[in-house]
Amino acid sequence: MIVVVATTQHEVAGVQMRLRELEGRDVDVLEPSDTRRLVLAAFDEWAAEPVAGALRGEGRVAVARPVDGPRLEAWMRHTRPIAFSERLSVCFAWSEHDRGDLPGLIELGPGGFGSGEHPSTALVVDQLLGRIRGGERVLDVGCGSGVLGLCALRLGASRVVALDIKADAVDATRRNAALNGMERQVEATNAPLEEIDGTFDVVLANIGRAAIVQLAPELVGRLSPDGWLAVSGISSSQCALVAGFLCPLVALECGTSGEWSTLILGRRPQIPVALVER
Ligand SMILES: C[S@@+](CC[C@H](N)C(=O)[O-])C[C@H]1O[C@@H](n2cnc3c(N)ncnc32)[C@H](O)[C@@H]1O
Repeated sequence: MIVVVATTQHEVAGVQMRLRELEGRDVDVLEPSDTRRLVLAAFDEWAAEPVAGALRGEGRVAVARPVDGPRLEAWMRHTRPIAFSERLSVCFAWSEHDRGDLPGLIELGPGGFGSGEHPSTALVVDQLLGRIRGGERVLDVGCGSGVLGLCALRLGASRVVALDIKADAVDATRRNAALNGMERQVEATNAPLEEIDGTFDVVLANIGRAAIVQLAPELVGRLSPDGWLAVSGISSSQCALVAGFLCPLVALECGTSGEWSTLILGRRPQIPVALVER
C-alpha cells in the first residue's frame, strides 16, 4: 500500500522526514498543482492504514491507497477532480490527478460524507452555480464533509453555518474549511436545527426524504423572506409529497439526475416552476 500525505511546499521536508521515521519506503513527492504537494511512501499492507490514521491524528491530511492493479484504477477514477463549471471544481486534497488549471477549486480531506460526485449533491451544486449572487448567509443542514457550504462560499456567499448529527461530519467540515482557507467564514456545529438562531438567504438540506419531512418546520422557519431552500436526496416521485410538508413555501424548480431529484422552494414564486434535467 501507498500512504499519501497532502501538504504544502513549505511542509514537504517535514512530512518526508516523518514518513521515513515511520519506516515508509521509496518516499516521493508529486506536484498536482502550483500549491499542493503530495508526499508518497510505500508501506506493508498491514501497516498502511494504521500509519495513515496516526498521521491524521497528528493533524495531517493522509490516506492509504492501493499500489497497482484494478484497485488502483478504481481509486484513480474515484479521486478524479470534478469540474462543475468554469467557476467551480471539487477535488480530494490527496488526488494525484493534475489540477493546475481547475477553476475555483475546493479541496476535501478525509472524513465526513460528500465528495460532490453523488447526483443528490451535484444537483444542489448546480443550483448554487445558478442562484448564488454574492454575500448570502447559508445554512448547510446535514453538511457531511461541508462540500455544499464550501462551494457556496467559493461562488461568493459570505458565511456558512453547517450542522450535522454526526460528530465526524462536523470535524471534517471544520478541517475542510481550514484546508480551503475558509475557517473564518464557516461555523460547524453538532447543534440540532431548532437551536440555530436567525434566518438565512440560502438553506441547503441534502438529507433525504425522511429527515426533510421530520425537519420541515425548522427548515421553513430558518429561511429569510427572499431566500431559497434546496432539499435533496429525494426521488422525483417524492417531490410533490415533500413540497407539501414545506408549505407555505412554494416550489420554484425541480432538478433531476437519474433517479435523484432536488427541489427548490421559496416564499413566493420568483419564476415559473421549472423542470430541469441534469
Ligand atoms: C447525504 S449526506 C449529504 C452530505 C453533503 N451535504 C452533501 O451534499 O454531499 C447527509 C448528511 O446529513 C446528515 N443528517 C441526516 N439527518 C440529519 C439531521 N436530522 N440533522 C442534521 N444532519 C443530518 C448525515 O449525518 C449526513 O452527513
